[in-house]
Amino acid sequence: MLQYTLIKRAGWFLRWYRTFVTLDMGQLHKLLPASGTLLDVGCGVGVVDHALARRNPNLKIHGIDITAECIPLAREFHALPNVNYECRRIEDVEGQYDCLLFIDVFHHVPPVHRDSILQAAARLLKPGGYLLIKDISRRGGWVSFALDHYVSKYPANEIFLENLEDMKTLVSRHLKVVHTEKRYRFPFPRYYIKAMRKDG
Ligand SMILES: C[S@@+](CC[C@H](N)C(=O)[O-])C[C@H]1O[C@@H](n2cnc3c(N)ncnc32)[C@H](O)[C@@H]1O
Repeated sequence: MLQYTLIKRAGWFLRWYRTFVTLDMGQLHKLLPASGTLLDVGCGVGVVDHALARRNPNLKIHGIDITAECIPLAREFHALPNVNYECRRIEDVEGQYDCLLFIDVFHHVPPVHRDSILQAAARLLKPGGYLLIKDISRRGGWVSFALDHYVSKYPANEIFLENLEDMKTLVSRHLKVVHTEKRYRFPFPRYYIKAMRKDG
């Protein structure tokens, strides 16, 4: 994967590209807690966790990913005292967190596996805690149209983009959706969904 090569050869570029070009970190900082515990599901090589942990020393972050190759790279290049990384499925995580984060993860998850992930997410949230999903929106602009029509047609690069409304319906099966937002910021149209436990 491109990010594995980039992190070793030009980590500064990957960090800049991810946090200034493809993500809106200002928006994420607004939507995420500055302290407490956060489980980042699909942490990749840890670019976002590094940025969050550096800005919020009182936020304790646990980053997990099912792709084993990511984890040693995250540990080597994005270590901080308040972050740890682990190769683990969310279904196997124990404990409870103030916040669960999914950044650009669900478009890699085949629809058939999504309920099990959201069920685990509901179990892992503390009462009063919340989950935040940020993803690329389907058919929200020319880039998502192109991804949807061309890239997702190739099994080797399968992606499953959703629109906000369909994702909200899915999340609502397991959690109470408390905030949604659609935003366009070049190059990707994106959506945010914030949800809490149904009994929280
Ligand atoms: C586009 S990357 C995003 C990485 C990171 N969240 C970021 O924003 O830089 C998507 C990541 O999700 C991970 N992923 C996909 N399905 C997953 C699952 N079911 N559980 C955990 N991680 C998953 C992939 O291995 C990949 O590292």
